[in-house]
Amino acid sequence: MKLFPLLLFFFFSTFFTFCLAGNVTFDKRSLIINGQRKLLISASIHYPRSVPAMWPGLVQTAKEGGADVIESYVFWNGHELSPGKYYFGGRFDLVKFVKIVQDAGMYMILRIGPFVAAEYNLGGIPVWLHYIPGSFFRTDSEPFKFYMKRFMTVIVDLMKEEKLFASQGGPIILAQVENEYGWYQMNYGEPGNRYASWAMQTAFSQNIGVPWIMCQQYTALPDYVIDTCNSFYCDQFTPTSPNKPKIWTENWPGWFQTFGGKVPHRPVEDIAFSVARFFQKGGSVQNYYMYHGGTNFGRTAGLYISTSYDYDAPIDEYGLPRNPKWGHLKDLHRAIKLCEQVVLDSGPINLSLGPSQEADVYTDSSGACAAFLSNTDNKTDMIVEFRNASYHLPAWSVSILPDCKNVVFNSAKVSSPTSRVEMVPENLQATIWEIFEEKVGIWGQIDFMQNGLVDHIDTTKFASDYLWYNTSAFSILMFPFHTTSGHINEEFLKKGNLPVLQIESKGHALHVFVNGELKGSPDGANTGPAFKFKKPVPLKAGNNNISLLSMTLGLPSAGLYYEWMGSGLTSVKIDGFSNGTVDFTLSSWNYKIGLEGESLGIYKPNCVNCVKWVSTTEPPKNQPLTWYKTIVDQPSGEDPIALDMLAMGKGLAWLNGEEIGRYWPKESPLDDQCVQECDYRGTFSQWKCPTGCGEPTQRWYHIPRSWFQPTGNVLVIFEEKGGDPTKIKFAKRKISGLCALVGEDYPLATVNLKCPKNSSISEVKFASFGNPEGTCGSYRKGHCHDPTSTSVIEMACLNKNECAIELTDETFDKSPKLKKLSKQQGFEVLFPLISIHFHNSREVRKLK
Ligand SMILES: *[C@@H]1O[C@H](CO)[C@@H](O)[C@H](O)[C@H]1NC(C)=O
Ligand SMILES: *[C@@H]1O[C@H](CO)[C@@H](O)[C@H](O)[C@H]1NC(C)=O
Ligand SMILES: *[C@@H]1O[C@H](CO)[C@@H](O)[C@H](O)[C@H]1NC(C)=O
Ligand SMILES: *[C@@H]1O[C@H](CO)[C@@H](O)[C@H](O)[C@H]1NC(C)=O
Ligand SMILES: *[C@@H]1O[C@H](CO)[C@@H](O)[C@H](O)[C@H]1NC(C)=O
Ligand SMILES: *[C@@H]1O[C@H](CO)[C@@H](O)[C@H](O)[C@H]1NC(C)=O
Ligand SMILES: *[C@@H]1O[C@H](CO)[C@@H](O)[C@H](O)[C@H]1NC(C)=O
Ligand SMILES: *[C@@H]1O[C@H](CO)[C@@H](O)[C@H](O)[C@H]1NC(C)=O
Repeated sequence: MKLFPLLLFFFFSTFFTFCLAGNVTFDKRSLIINGQRKLLISASIHYPRSVPAMWPGLVQTAKEGGADVIESYVFWNGHELSPGKYYFGGRFDLVKFVKIVQDAGMYMILRIGPFVAAEYNLGGIPVWLHYIPGSFFRTDSEPFKFYMKRFMTVIVDLMKEEKLFASQGGPIILAQVENEYGWYQMNYGEPGNRYASWAMQTAFSQNIGVPWIMCQQYTALPDYVIDTCNSFYCDQFTPTSPNKPKIWTENWPGWFQTFGGKVPHRPVEDIAFSVARFFQKGGSVQNYYMYHGGTNFGRTAGLYISTSYDYDAPIDEYGLPRNPKWGHLKDLHRAIKLCEQVVLDSGPINLSLGPSQEADVYTDSSGACAAFLSNTDNKTDMIVEFRNASYHLPAWSVSILPDCKNVVFNSAKVSSPTSRVEMVPENLQATIWEIFEEKVGIWGQIDFMQNGLVDHIDTTKFASDYLWYNTSAFSILMFPFHTTSGHINEEFLKKGNLPVLQIESKGHALHVFVNGELKGSPDGANTGPAFKFKKPVPLKAGNNNISLLSMTLGLPSAGLYYEWMGSGLTSVKIDGFSNGTVDFTLSSWNYKIGLEGESLGIYKPNCVNCVKWVSTTEPPKNQPLTWYKTIVDQPSGEDPIALDMLAMGKGLAWLNGEEIGRYWPKESPLDDQCVQECDYRGTFSQWKCPTGCGEPTQRWYHIPRSWFQPTGNVLVIFEEKGGDPTKIKFAKRKISGLCALVGEDYPLATVNLKCPKNSSISEVKFASFGNPEGTCGSYRKGHCHDPTSTSVIEMACLNKNECAIELTDETFDKSPKLKKLSKQQGFEVLFPLISIHFHNSREVRKLK
């Protein structure tokens, strides 16, 4: 009887020692975990950019996509709210997140920083640290180092306490100190060098039992720190020491968005090319930054960064796999894993196969062989000869041959289906609205009065985005006009001119109210934070008032001395007076930090009665500075939910007191840089393939389902400029269809179509076995087309949740007509409308 518990104990100790516990070491080839070499695929998922209810699903989707590791930064400003006061709840429950990764049987890379950049407010460093006397960020500054070390220690101790380092049996295999510091170190000179050494020693002294990494670090490093690469391509990267493995901490599968910017896209063929090239050239750890980008909830975004941090990542902002990106990378990961043993066992031998074509061949002592064949020519497809066989290598592509013979993957041949995603509108069903109007200008008591214009950020310390500037000079000194001191120039007015208000600001945005009316809303989003405003304004005889509401839109997330970059007004003048331009810059100004509604906390659910909301069935439209509140039901079903804010101007939104974030459907410039289709060939940059010219950068704002109750949800909107709240809608994000395209020379000649849970294929919208044209959603028949295509696919797929269509000769033996054409085929499958389409370049030639 006593045997049983003993066995159990033995089982557990075995499990922890051999499956998870890990001595993590490294040499020039790879990390070695528990004595085993690893090729690792890692996926960045930042825990505060989603909600705990989403974490298990995101981690699982990453695992299904072929990732072994989850990577995240640690977000200092979310954890240390004021000096020594820590928060690890809600979206900031770091231990819970790491344990979810552990439970999924995955490893974790923890990039502690604690500076992280990450398009996050002030790069993740708490704003209060800037106001500690003597503090300079990221250099040899005692206060900065004191608080940095204290925070690192808090995080490391927390992880140790929960036994989360691999050395303790946990999932964390690597930790990062600082972030992309190399360039800053050069610019900060000697203090930068001292700080970098200090940061490494401080990290080392934490004694975590796993290696430390530093990315984009260019100086020689101690043995215990591995320098790593961040870029769109890292195949040419070599670590500063020959004894360290080649690690890619940031491969950017897309890019971030700014309000008023275009929407960047990186084609999956190019991402797969970059990853395959990295492993071809001896890389051993590759991380997608981001694999799930998520959402900058509340006011966590960096300067001008949109609330969406979708990043065109393999998992979209809402948590759905983005296909074909997710699927094609999954196919890639599978192919790389097939090569893992032999690749890790030997060094490559490279062979030239042509001017821009090469093979890297790995062989081990047992005679096993794996090869990567690449064509880095950005225009020309090639047929190359390798080991007495010929291979078709599309331009800018890599083929993976785990046995040096059969191609299981080519980065440019995407056989994974494309999903079509729709934002399906759903009315809020709001009949009653409650309204609270902010006063234009200073509400309540002024906070302080001062001669001259103050810095916005130094004044608000980021407690609010808003700061009112109001000079009594407008009313007391200059107006009414017909005083001897401030005479309006009659000549000037007679010519049909109006006095011209001229404002300059360091950033980030401004609302200009003249006599209570909004006259302009300039911002620096497209010009850098500084901007100018110049506009004729209808001043009247008698008293006039001008109120200026200055705004921050996140603090910069990186830059030399970036914490000193201020914002707010620098100059205010009015032109058109008889003695010329009157300059109010040095006048006496009154200041008020924040809004009345903010100070009352009227967006909080427990504050239902703390302000006199006015009920109405017809909420005012196009009215600036208005708070709206309404009660909504949770949209039905399980699809992710967004708020469609197209009809609104700019502001903040909350559901049940949770911060949805800043909304601003600001349009990007209408120019010709946007593309319909992206040519993946050639070196990618974030400006290469944008969409959305002339459209709002961000129209939809994610609200996690876990924030809803079934009914009685309180939606609060603060609108700054004016909008029509009755046109606010929910939108459900739905996968509504699939398209697929396959050719006979594709490594995977099977198309697997899988619909979302509880749905099935209801229609084959298009199918062509021949040489169809176009892209997903707009396929057309080519001049060669088998008329039975649709019925063949219908037979295989209709009313099924998933189906596989194999394009081997055997499959098409059953369908003689298809066989005739089965050289290169394509599918478009739309769910609930399905389309399928086939195409064959070689056979087509014969048919002509
Ligand atoms: C870690 O590796 C070292 C050196 O190879 C070895 O001495 C030690 O026993 C290992 N520790 C564990 C927990 O495996
Ligand atoms: C091929 O390998 C040799 C020897 O390691 C190296 O010098 C050369 O740069 C490599 N060529 C390419 C294209 O990687
Ligand atoms: C390629 O063919 C040549 C000549 O037939 C032969 O000697 C050689 O062994 C073959 N190489 C491979 C890798 O099969
Ligand atoms: C500006 O400040 C002055 C002095 O406090 C006050 O009389 C005036 O009402 C303020 N104007 C606005 C628009 O807030
Ligand atoms: C115009 O007169 C006003 C009131 O006396 C004064 O504040 C301002 O500086 C004068 N402007 C110029 C350009 O002299
Ligand atoms: C500012 O001007 C508006 C419009 O003329 C007026 O309603 C408001 O009372 C004025 N405010 C102050 C503080 O003078
Ligand atoms: C293609 O490669 C050529 C030669 O290296 C280069 O000059 C050209 O800029 C490249 N084009 C693209 C689109 O990358
Ligand atoms: C699918 O159907 C089952 C049974 O009808 C139901 O319990 C489940 O919630 C449904 N799932 C989705 C995603 O609709």
